[in-house]
Amino acid sequence: MKHVHRKELTRQQQAALEDVEGILGRSYNPFSGLCVGAGLVLQDGTVLTGINYESASYGLTLCAERTAIARAQTENRIGQVSCLVLVARRRSSDAEEAPLTPCGACRQWLAELAARLGRDIPVYTFWAGGAKGLQGSAQALLPEAFQ
Ligand code: THU
Repeated sequence: MKHVHRKELTRQQQAALEDVEGILGRSYNPFSGLCVGAGLVLQDGTVLTGINYESASYGLTLCAERTAIARAQTENRIGQVSCLVLVARRRSSDAEEAPLTPCGACRQWLAELAARLGRDIPVYTFWAGGAKGLQGSAQALLPEAFQ
């Protein structure tokens, strides 16, 4: 992924980042302490958010990206997805780290969604309140994805 400054995002994308920052506290993360929020920005500017939801059987944890994708499908708005913004915050520390990037399972979901929509999906990721983020896209995040 490439570096991007928050100010380089469109107004709509910056607003989406703020929306996601606003719901980070709803993340259910008793095991990792990592709050992750995802926002699928629709073509009309609506933001469908999702948070990570952990399980005591760790591998069953649901990431924020997949929560948001399932929500867009549930709301019958999957065809209107224009981009994804991701925000994270650690409950315990605010050490400077690179913004998190989608896990392998989420990359597969995103690559399949891009194929379904017939267009790539830009992805932006930031720490909560952070100015410096990373940008990429669903297809670039998982080349040669299984379809
Ligand atoms: N997580 C996400 O929600 N999205 C990602 O792309 C990476 C990881 C969550 C899953 C788990 O609740 C926590 O972050 C630590 O792995």
